[in-house]
Amino acid sequence: MKDFKIVICGGGSTYTAGIVKDLLDQSHELKIRELWLYDIDEERQNKVAVVVQAVVAQFAPDLDVRVTTDPAEAFSGANFIMAQMRVGGLEMRVSDEVTCLKHGVVGQETCGAGGMAYGMRTIYPMCQLVDYCEEYAAPDYWIVNYSNPAAIVAKAMHKLRPNARILDICDMPVEIEARMAEILGCELDDIEVDYFGLNHFGWFTSVRCKGEDVTDKLKAHVRTYGYISEASLNDSLVKDPDWQHTFENSATISTLFQDYLPNTYYQYYLMPDSCVEYMDINNTRGMQVINGREKRMFAASEALQRGEDVDLTQFYVGVHGRFIVDVVKSLALDLRHRHLVIVPNNGIIENLSDDATVEVPAYITDRGPEPVRVGTIPRFYKGLIENQDACEGLIVEAVIEGSYQKALQAFTLNRTIPSATVAKALLDDLIEQNKGYWPELK
Ligand code: G6P
Ligand code: MN
Repeated sequence: MKDFKIVICGGGSTYTAGIVKDLLDQSHELKIRELWLYDIDEERQNKVAVVVQAVVAQFAPDLDVRVTTDPAEAFSGANFIMAQMRVGGLEMRVSDEVTCLKHGVVGQETCGAGGMAYGMRTIYPMCQLVDYCEEYAAPDYWIVNYSNPAAIVAKAMHKLRPNARILDICDMPVEIEARMAEILGCELDDIEVDYFGLNHFGWFTSVRCKGEDVTDKLKAHVRTYGYISEASLNDSLVKDPDWQHTFENSATISTLFQDYLPNTYYQYYLMPDSCVEYMDINNTRGMQVINGREKRMFAASEALQRGEDVDLTQFYVGVHGRFIVDVVKSLALDLRHRHLVIVPNNGIIENLSDDATVEVPAYITDRGPEPVRVGTIPRFYKGLIENQDACEGLIVEAVIEGSYQKALQAFTLNRTIPSATVAKALLDDLIEQNKGYWPELK
């Protein structure tokens, strides 16, 4: 049986322990030869590693997890690199959110100006990761990439590193599918979807549960409740009000546009005014993560170091870990499982340009994804998507060319920004805030 060297790049993430747990859950099929955590932030990664070691001690005591900040050590002979880097850390997530909200526009890590700012920070570090893998990893390595903003990162890599063995993914659709399963009272594995769009900018066109078409049934539910099951609707212990609010907002969008079921992220593009109203500049999402998930992770790390018992299940969140492990497994073992992935369009959506960066279902083989053809899409969706894809393409070009004009054009095109003058003022502020991260724009 083949075994694999797996590297988690961005080892210091609050998601690492959850991903490792899912890797161990599936290690009877996906055999692990070596497991490495790699990060550029040694101190942070060491804290997270304590929690990871505890997970491993419980579920795979014979496995030796290695922790490093040395790329040669991390990537040498690596088969699978799970990337989840956050350039600038949560601190810059908060900076983007606050700067945007000061201008009265959506401050969000992947959508609108926040996403563009984060994209401009991430493109070159991502190129560096690809270069490390080209230099050190096994020739048939795969980077499976969760790093955000996935749409911009993917587009940049298709342009700057076209031969990289990188597959960009996002867990949002599958998180929504898990909600669909809960609404329908079935298992996630019973669900199969058709879907098209860009990352954080797509639509479910059809949903099947054990082969039965449940699209209309789901649409009726989502129009009333959003992606919230009746059980969790009555659950007084809502753990994360922010995500609850997001899932509820899909009710409005699917009432206004009844053709398909929306990705939750459309709230920022189609309801930016109400999103800004809902957002709190003193308690942004980034702040909530720092004071919640991150604080709990660091506290657990300290408690474990003191030899105390810690409830590790709090770090096994949603389907996030399972999804990336499923994709790696399908690549590793040529399982041809069907997953949504982010790929160059190249005719998948017939009436979009080839270089659009689309998110669609694909069968995942050991040679990469085999996308399912979508055909043509109606004018409204095409218009939305072309606008957003142009915006993301201009951000990539702005970074490559160091072009202020292209960055301004991208900001102006984005649906979350109301005018060219707001776009300019906000861009100028973000340039200040992102000194040391963005290339110089002239
Ligand atoms: C979903 C998205 C990710 C995003 C995350 C943010 O999982 O698919 O792209 O990073 O949500 O979640 P958070 O709890 O950090 O706001
Ligand atoms: Mn995502």
